[in-house]
Amino acid sequence: MPTLLQILSSISSADGESSKLGSRFVDRWKEKNPDGEVIVRDLAADPIPHLTAERFGAFVTPEADRTPAQTEHVRASDALISELEAADIVVLGLPMYNFGIPSVLKSWFDNVARAGVTFRYTESGAVGLIGDKPLYVFASRGGLYEGTGRDFQTGHVTLFFNLLGIRDIHFEYAEGLNISPEHKENALQSATDRIDRLL
Ligand SMILES: Cc1cc2nc3c(=O)[nH]c(=O)nc-3n(C[C@H](O)[C@H](O)[C@H](O)COP(=O)(O)O)c2cc1C
Repeated sequence: MPTLLQILSSISSADGESSKLGSRFVDRWKEKNPDGEVIVRDLAADPIPHLTAERFGAFVTPEADRTPAQTEHVRASDALISELEAADIVVLGLPMYNFGIPSVLKSWFDNVARAGVTFRYTESGAVGLIGDKPLYVFASRGGLYEGTGRDFQTGHVTLFFNLLGIRDIHFEYAEGLNISPEHKENALQSATDRIDRLL
């Protein structure tokens, strides 16, 4: 049974434009995979705590030496990693907030990047330990950034998942959503049309 992991990072949870675009894709995927399972990780409803020295310390402390609190931090991080590892395909809703990725997504990154667990250092650089799998990213923005040097999200998200070993990454953009109601409607419609042709 194939499994799809849908990550929502909008402050509006499933009602966010990025989430709705992701859900459109998930609906198409379910049509093709009627026996497939969808796991939703809603980072607004269930935020992951920011990385702190204590949390990071837990990741680099041998199991036998961890405090009960550190054991719990590692358990929570392990659960996120297992969810990602178990997925055959990942869908990420990616709003732009203040020119970057949502802080809840950054916290997810910080709790999933674990040396020796999800990547390892080698003499020729970091090597991902999560198997490659398709990642579909649905990016919604108020302004226009795609293909410009002001798009700091695409490179960041690509670099992060590459670190883990995920290279099969596909971005779809819905941009200019705050330019005018007409522009928004057209941008969302054309993104939806593209999504319907993806699978
Ligand atoms: C707090 C906040 C910050 C935003 N910052 C930007 C920005 O820097 N650039 C931009 O183009 N749009 C910005 N927007 C607009 C959002 O990117 C746009 O509304 C997007 O569709 C939000 O996705 P969501 O509906 O999935 O949350 C911002 C919106 C909010 C609420």
